[in-house]
Amino acid sequence: MDATILLTVNGKQRKVTTDPQRPLLDVLREEFQLTGAKFGCGEGRCGACTVLVNGQAVHSCLTPIANVQGKSVVTIEGLATGEKLHPVQEAFLAEEASQCGYCTPGMVLATVGLLARTPQPTDEQIVAALDGHLCRCCGYTNILKAVRRAAQPAGRG
Ligand code: FES
Ligand code: FES
Repeated sequence: MDATILLTVNGKQRKVTTDPQRPLLDVLREEFQLTGAKFGCGEGRCGACTVLVNGQAVHSCLTPIANVQGKSVVTIEGLATGEKLHPVQEAFLAEEASQCGYCTPGMVLATVGLLARTPQPTDEQIVAALDGHLCRCCGYTNILKAVRRAAQPAGRG
């Protein structure tokens, strides 16, 4: 039976009536037209669908919509402030850490989640936070540089 779920998406109150087990990713993409989070594997193995839920990076493909009732979801569409990119987005741009871009929203949001809890991560902590985020273009070296850049005080603006 369908349920009505209330949540906040990118700072706005949203409501959806749907199967409570429906993945958050599907609701974001199909009901709210927020297509930044990507479908890759659908089983928690690629990170393309990553969004923030109450500040924590989660796989939206594995998150039933019922689990985010009353919570705050941030997608890549919600990171910039007007025309001003988020510092992590700026760092990815500066380091050319995006090629086809399919993995980029997930990488960026995982980085935002990491820096919120660990502002000065070691390389090991960065690798651990991005473990499970696959980049088909193999841009890992520049992605690592971008996360390092974003972690610098000057880079966080
Ligand atoms: S689509 Fe969610 S982890 Fe791959
Ligand atoms: S930039 Fe293409 S998958 Fe990472």
